[in-house]
Amino acid sequence: MEIVENINELASYISSVKTNVNIGFVPTMGALHEGHLNLIKASKLNGDITICSVFVNKIQFNNEEDFIKYPRNIDQDIELLQQAGCDCLFIPTQEIVFPLDYEFENFELGNIEEILEGFYRPGHFQGVCNVVNRFINLIHPNKLYLGIKDLQQCKVIEKMIHLEKYEPTVELVYCATTRNEKGLALSSRNKRLSSIAQEKALILIETLKSAKEQILNKSNHLYTIQQLAIDAILNNGFESVDYFEFVNQDFELIDHQSTEQSPAFILTAATIEGVRLIDNIIL
Ligand code: PAF
Repeated sequence: MEIVENINELASYISSVKTNVNIGFVPTMGALHEGHLNLIKASKLNGDITICSVFVNKIQFNNEEDFIKYPRNIDQDIELLQQAGCDCLFIPTQEIVFPLDYEFENFELGNIEEILEGFYRPGHFQGVCNVVNRFINLIHPNKLYLGIKDLQQCKVIEKMIHLEKYEPTVELVYCATTRNEKGLALSSRNKRLSSIAQEKALILIETLKSAKEQILNKSNHLYTIQQLAIDAILNNGFESVDYFEFVNQDFELIDHQSTEQSPAFILTAATIEGVRLIDNIIL
């Protein structure tokens, strides 16, 4: 695996491989786990030259403490990427990604930026879009591999790709959430949880599955389903629940009183042992 740290090295790596090959790009913030490695595998399966970035993007953290506490383990990341057959790892510094004179963009993301993660983490999606846009401009990938654990992030990046007119050159590939044997969605943040909290955190996927079942069986109204889910999460050791919400195919929040609209996804965010976890389920 080639390891590149600056733009010149990256550009010469890309020009050395870019004849008749597709480039698959997996952006990450490191502290890699099986979920990230599955994105690398998906890219490799497509026969793409796979470039992975490890960059803890300060501008997408609206909480300084979360940024400081974000797990970092580059030596282990390198080993895992090598084992997974990643072709190139880009590990730039802050100054390389966003030099002092960098002109940040303000993407017209619309309502999706205001709801759910956007509501609880103001500015987060602008930070994500700026860094992913920057990487697309540096790497010129044909495919961008993202995990749907961060479903709203996938939708936001899809919108940014559309706004920047990268289609059809850059295609976004949605990859399934990787879970541990018990069903907990893998996340770099899980590393900050005690083993007891990791057990308790299973309540997120359990309530999502139960909510899906109740919707499909039409056994309860959305409002009741939501309240039952929030109670179950709070009774299972979580300190708080930011949301347990339903969105339609266009990623608009569904009014709980309405019986007309059919939810396409259910999403939740909740905090245990001071660690904020997110998960979702597709209907
Ligand atoms: O999902 C992440 O790890 C980050 O938001 C991303 C896409 C790498 C951008 O920093």
